Amino acid sequence: MTRQAWLNGVFLAADEARISPFDRGFLFADSVYEVTAVYGGQLIDMERHLDRLQRSLTELGFALLPDRSEIARVHRRLVADNAIGEGYVYLQVSRGAYEGRNFPAPDGEGMRLTCFAFAEAKPLIDTSGARHGIKVISVPDIRWGRRDIKSTGLLAPVLAKTEARARGADDAWLVGADGFVTEAASANAWIVTREGEIVTRALSHVILAGITRHSLFDALMQAGGRISERSFTLEEALNAAEAFSTSATALVAPVVEIDGVRLGDGEPGPVTRRVQAIYYAAIGVEAGTPGWLAAR
Ligand code: PDD
Repeated sequence: MTRQAWLNGVFLAADEARISPFDRGFLFADSVYEVTAVYGGQLIDMERHLDRLQRSLTELGFALLPDRSEIARVHRRLVADNAIGEGYVYLQVSRGAYEGRNFPAPDGEGMRLTCFAFAEAKPLIDTSGARHGIKVISVPDIRWGRRDIKSTGLLAPVLAKTEARARGADDAWLVGADGFVTEAASANAWIVTREGEIVTRALSHVILAGITRHSLFDALMQAGGRISERSFTLEEALNAAEAFSTSATALVAPVVEIDGVRLGDGEPGPVTRRVQAIYYAAIGVEAGTPGWLAAR
């Protein structure tokens, strides 16, 4: 089946989608994106993704915003037409293509956006990472100061994940100059202390306000979990009982090793397993628990 995408109001075969090389997304990474998980053919937390999209665009001073209900419709149609049971929808909105290369952003009058979306089928629940956990390395966080904006300026995570792969790991956790972990290269970072406290960094300009983080936080609160929103150092993470990361593309991924140091016995720990089960139940995974998790 040809993958169907959507570009500037038109549904078309993905390999026929073309944009100008003068697009500001290409020239300046003057664009933002969203990745929304799909499970059971349903978009997970669509409204929250739309809220964050709008916030990113507004923070960057986009003089024109895409129509929210059209974007939601496009997501639903891409899921349906591409028969996505489990996977994600990617959406990118750039400040558009103009004559030549000019740093200052266009004003409202002559502005036209470039909007592109596609869907991809991909397992989210029954993955090796979710089952057995992932290994991460730590790298310095060299990103810009507005990581709360979901911009496509992703060179730092590209380099971090490439280094992780070269060093035999699955992902990278980013550490600020102050020694505190900010987040993972494309996910939020969490630890479970030896006292059983679940910790993730408080929201600010230095991390992305993850939608998975938000929904998991709500679900854990409801379940009466001991959660704390505070910064933690790499040292504390290395000494934690357990760790995990959250994102729309990996949901809850147990972290079993950081910089070659095994956490606990090197297997996903009991709190992380419970966290996975709570999150899966929250997004409607049958009976809240996939077979491989329930069987433990
Ligand atoms: N990344 N932090 C960063 C830096 C991210 O890039 C992401 C998501 C997250 C988690 O956010 P959410 O739970 O809303 O997915 C945190 C997406 C998945 C990506 O770049 O592919």
